[in-house]
Amino acid sequence: MTARTIVDKIQTLKRERNAIILAHNYQPDEVQAIADFIGDSLALSRTAAKTDAAVIVFCGVHFMAETAAILSPHKTVLMPEPDAGCPMADMISAAQLRAFKQEHPGALVVAYVNSSAAVKAESDICCTSSNAQDVVQSLPEDRDIIFIPDKYLGSYVAAQTGRKLILWNGYCPIHVKIQPEDIERRKREHPAAKVAVHPECTPPVIQRADAVLSTEGICRYAGRPEVKELIVGTEIGVLYRLRTEHPEKRFYPASDTAVCPNMKKTTLEKVLWSLERMEHIVSVPPDIATRARQAVDAMIAIGT
Ligand code: 13P
Ligand code: SF4
Repeated sequence: MTARTIVDKIQTLKRERNAIILAHNYQPDEVQAIADFIGDSLALSRTAAKTDAAVIVFCGVHFMAETAAILSPHKTVLMPEPDAGCPMADMISAAQLRAFKQEHPGALVVAYVNSSAAVKAESDICCTSSNAQDVVQSLPEDRDIIFIPDKYLGSYVAAQTGRKLILWNGYCPIHVKIQPEDIERRKREHPAAKVAVHPECTPPVIQRADAVLSTEGICRYAGRPEVKELIVGTEIGVLYRLRTEHPEKRFYPASDTAVCPNMKKTTLEKVLWSLERMEHIVSVPPDIATRARQAVDAMIAIGT
């Protein structure tokens, strides 16, 4: 089957099933090209929560589809590739979080959305990379705060807010591949370029950036008139959207090695099969979903 035929079939089935296709900014180019909505974790959660579609085809990694299922319990959430996980989300289990909470009695728990539903269910409030500072600032000054699982996002938020955070030793294995030397080299190659990086990067990379933003934030920053060239310190999938939205500007990946293999598992064929066979359904046990939803809703209520 040619790519054109696959795309046509996807469009037909999408209408028949009353489905919407959501894609994360790191998805392969051809998947982003057929999506109804492309965004970061927060924007995808919000879209999943308010869509009228009966079926959500989620092109991303498992925690993102799970969040959509938590927010839309009466909709069918499908993942074209059920094995697309997030290694950082797997760095903490619900049992580990329960034990950590016992070591820090009374502390509130902020869970980065890159975590399982079971971990969210043990947490007070979620955050994404685009609202983490506002979420932490919203918490009472006199409470200790546990931040899981990303120690680099956590340390960045602690520095920005002045709040002391109790960190878990998690990290993104893709973003840590971006080295400060990569940024230095790209700056030498493109002296007029600005540097935007994701807060999952390590502190020495963050220190060399002009802006530290979620993937959506990087897309917005690229639209500023003063940004003509941009060195991009995150997973390289975001370059597709940047180059599509701003063909007149120049974008350079900070490192060509920043590729998330799990994000690349989704293909056009798998999107088609997913709609044809109505698989793979993502569901969260109701007791976990109810508790996890409280943490996700608390985040959405912050409104940033
Ligand atoms: P964003 O929410 O910024 O898109 O980040 C998600 C993610 O997995 C980053 O690695
Ligand atoms: Fe997880 Fe990192 Fe991949 Fe994002 S880029 S989905 S944090 S492994």
